Amino acid sequence: MQNFSFRNGIWRTGLARRLFVFSVTWLPLVVWADDIGMPAVVLKSYTSECAACHVAYAPGLLPAPAWNRLMNSLENHYGSDASIDEKSVKEISTWLQKHGASTRRFNEAPPDNRITSTAWFVRKHREIGSAVWTRTAVKSRANCVACHQRAAKGIFEEDEVRIPR
Ligand code: HEC
Ligand code: HEC
Repeated sequence: MQNFSFRNGIWRTGLARRLFVFSVTWLPLVVWADDIGMPAVVLKSYTSECAACHVAYAPGLLPAPAWNRLMNSLENHYGSDASIDEKSVKEISTWLQKHGASTRRFNEAPPDNRITSTAWFVRKHREIGSAVWTRTAVKSRANCVACHQRAAKGIFEEDEVRIPR
């Protein structure tokens, strides 16, 4: 019995110790690795078809199922008709899903497929007053680039945030 107690058994086998050392060394990296960025190669049609009305959102901001649903309902796109030819839909949809969120942090797919509806988005922006969102230079939560100048590159560093007056 004694041999299998925590101290005499698991810890001494080194397994618990190794797990502990591993978590101390690597967990912070796993948790903080939230740089989104853009895929190394950005699909041409994505830029031409999806950045006309707003910034080209980084694919890593939504998981594959959300992109899939969004790409299947472009004729009814948040009050706009964003429909495009079938070939482009297929190409962009495949690319978006391939590069969709790969970290748990951005893995949420809200029913309306909005980045701005995710819990992480709401949490990260909860200190912004409602009057700020309606400023002419901001207009909408979806207008990331108003405050994150490098949003089109998928960069949202906290120390680069500038809220326009
Ligand atoms: C005709 C204009 C138009 C085109 C083209 C367009 N969108 Fe949009 N999109 C909108 C509008 C309008 C909204 C809502 C913005 C708002 O709420 O302020 C929106 C919102 C979005 C959102 C949700 C933003 C949020 O609130 O989190 C995503 C994601 C999105 N678009 C992706 C795409 C993709 C992918 C394409 C290309 C296939 C595309 N859009 C093409 C007009 C367009
Ligand atoms: C009105 C300005 C504004 C708009 C518009 C806005 N943000 Fe932000 N964002 C902020 C502020 C302020 C913070 C918090 C910075 C801090 O914590 O110091 C933030 C934080 C973030 C963070 C967390 C950064 C980190 O390092 O933790 C992400 C990711 C982010 N925003 C993404 C977005 C996306 C995506 C959009 C558009 C769909 C968007 N934001 C629209 C102002 C804005």
